Amino acid sequence: MEELIEKLRELREKAYMGGGPKKIEVQHAKGKLTVRERLELLVDPETFVEMGSFVLPRATDFGMDKMRFYGDGVITGYGKIDGRLVFIYAQDFTVIGGSLGEMHALKIVRTIESALKVGVPVIGLYDSGGARIQEGVASLEGFGKVFAANVKASGVIPQIAVILGPCAGGATYSPALMDFVIMVKETSYMFVTGPRVVKATTGEDVTFEELGGAEVHATKSGVAHFIAENEEEAFVILKKLLSYLPPNNMSEPPIVETEDPAEREVPELEKIVPVDPMSAYDVREVICKILDDEEFLEVHENFAPNIVVGFGRLGGRTVGVVANQPAHLAGSIDIDASDKASRFVRFLDAFNIPIITLVDVPGFLPGVDQEHGGIIRHGAKLLYAYQEATVPKITFVLRKAYGGAYIAMGSKSLGADFVYAWPTAEIAVMGPEGAVRILYKREIAKTKNPEEFVKAVTEEYRRMFANPYKAAELGVIDDVIEPRYTRIIAIKALEALEGKREETPLKKHGNIPL
Ligand code: HXC
Repeated sequence: MEELIEKLRELREKAYMGGGPKKIEVQHAKGKLTVRERLELLVDPETFVEMGSFVLPRATDFGMDKMRFYGDGVITGYGKIDGRLVFIYAQDFTVIGGSLGEMHALKIVRTIESALKVGVPVIGLYDSGGARIQEGVASLEGFGKVFAANVKASGVIPQIAVILGPCAGGATYSPALMDFVIMVKETSYMFVTGPRVVKATTGEDVTFEELGGAEVHATKSGVAHFIAENEEEAFVILKKLLSYLPPNNMSEPPIVETEDPAEREVPELEKIVPVDPMSAYDVREVICKILDDEEFLEVHENFAPNIVVGFGRLGGRTVGVVANQPAHLAGSIDIDASDKASRFVRFLDAFNIPIITLVDVPGFLPGVDQEHGGIIRHGAKLLYAYQEATVPKITFVLRKAYGGAYIAMGSKSLGADFVYAWPTAEIAVMGPEGAVRILYKREIAKTKNPEEFVKAVTEEYRRMFANPYKAAELGVIDDVIEPRYTRIIAIKALEALEGKREETPLKKHGNIPL
């Protein structure tokens, strides 16, 4: 027995070393941690249980007979993060560049499927050269199976990808199918075709970082929801994100004790938001003031900053916040903002997280680019997502709420449970001046001083219609409230909606305008 145990220990030690000390040195020299170091940082001590540690590649062609690394370049298993169970797969770049072959894929698929059976989040740590070239079609097939598992798990368990090195080619589609992507600055990159292929096909000269670095995906493409300065920070973000989420779609998010009183008034709100509808302010200040302990985890912070989305808590319960941001593009909704907010709303709905919407929106962004880029198709996603969501939906109209954008931002007509307006709210088809210029086109043409005329009539229009009371009379808002009571009312509304049940027509699935 002793001998057998000795042999097992030897093999385990070998498996533990991945591609060996030289490759580990190279990994460190690139500013990256090894897969074991990553797991140590991520998982609560002594809780990680590995699965498939002795798996070897089945392939033997093209030198694969000499690449007999236990684990086949991916460590899979389960463990606890802040006391809560998760399943993890973590690619090991020191083993054949973390490339994905048949058995590597099988291990990932089994991990996702186990997480799905148990009903807990799955986390993927990506650091890979993509499809293992030597295994050819078997590795492509492996990728297909990983994608299928990601899709099957979508909406059932939270799936989070952390990109810690290369993630190229078709490999990018696994993180893209998951709920959140975290990237690390300078050491991670994602692209479907790399700089060399880009050069050959379009003639463009571009570096790895410029083409698919963290910064690019966090600001331009929207592929990355979070960026971190280093791997340690990536795991801090991941843990924080997990703290807001339920383990699966049949469970409620965890309730966290808070010292922040539910009866806290927030008089500062009356100063943060200027009465003048044209003046800008940072809506994140409003969000933070309302949430428990002023804590807000912003998602997609630098992508489409004209809309703000993220997680917080009210009375200890997780909520998702969606808010127009008057500090960018005056808070108008463009193509990217529509995509960003709709996907977030759908995530919240899938995972039983109530939606708090703060509205201050002049409309959908005008322009040829927007129209030709499909603002109609993209904007429709937001309408669709809000209507489809059956979780509690509570909306506060802070200031402007004009046109289709007012409808899209969690209006009563799209099923909001409670809509409140501040006295500064203006709910109308369009802004007062635009309305006057259309309604009084002839008079403006005839008058000697058109600008004076427009100004005077706009004032009159604003006094008559640009307020929340018309909307209150028609019952499209539930009440006009003093801003200082926003937090108190939001918490009461959440309590009232705790048992919310909503029937939806039977269908296979809807056809969201993608
Ligand atoms: C097999 C691979 C590999 C791969 C890297 N390696 N990628 N082996 N298949 N896809 C091996 C290298 O040969 C090397 O082996 C070791 O991993 C480390 O790689 P290096 O190149 O030394 O590392 P680095 O300089 O950091 O460059 C990393 C890299 C580069 C940029 C990722 O390795 C690279 O370009 N790899 C190929 C990327 C790629 O085109 N993948 C296919 C994408 S298409 P040794 O023995 O020297 O240590 C795809 C299709 C999926 O994935 C389709 C799904 C439907």
